[in-house]
Amino acid sequence: MKVIGLLFMYICSFYLYAHGGVEHDLSDIKTSESKEKNKLINELYVKNVKAIFKKACFDCHSSQTVYPSYYNLPLIKELIDKDIKDAKWHLVLDGDYPFRGHGSKLDDLSAIERNLDSSEMPPLRYRIFNSSSTLSKSEVETVRKWINQAREILK
Ligand code: HEC
Repeated sequence: MKVIGLLFMYICSFYLYAHGGVEHDLSDIKTSESKEKNKLINELYVKNVKAIFKKACFDCHSSQTVYPSYYNLPLIKELIDKDIKDAKWHLVLDGDYPFRGHGSKLDDLSAIERNLDSSEMPPLRYRIFNSSSTLSKSEVETVRKWINQAREILK
């Protein structure tokens, strides 16, 4: 009887151990896999896209705002401050990819794509004063290509 009891305990503990072990391993793989994916996407971002965003988006979507000379004109300060506040609620580009925002990673990518396609970003009121911030066709293509690569990697 004792031997059977011991055997039973042994089987139970082996099952628990193995089961627990497998679960632990799986979660480790999952987090390290998504870290690997983010790292890969970020490498492509830094190499191909970051310079474009720095030129056209960082003034509102990061803490690296370069304030214009007209910032202190009456009411302008309020307008610019509000733009930055609203922009950052949607998307913060500090710290590279993955960006911070209120949506999921895929939502953020789609929102960027949508805004590039409809030429909404940067907003017209900003482009008027910063003509070099308008993205050229090839820059839009570069960003779009990166978004598609990121989607593939995130699959
Ligand atoms: C002058 C400031 C300014 C600049 C520069 C700017 N944005 Fe924005 N962005 C905003 C504001 C303000 C909003 C908030 C909502 C709006 O206008 O619709 C926003 C919202 C967004 C959103 C969220 C929109 C949505 O549909 O959820 C994305 C994505 C975005 N910007 C991307 C960009 C990208 C990419 C660039 C550079 C190519 C850029 N923005 C440059 C001000 C700016």
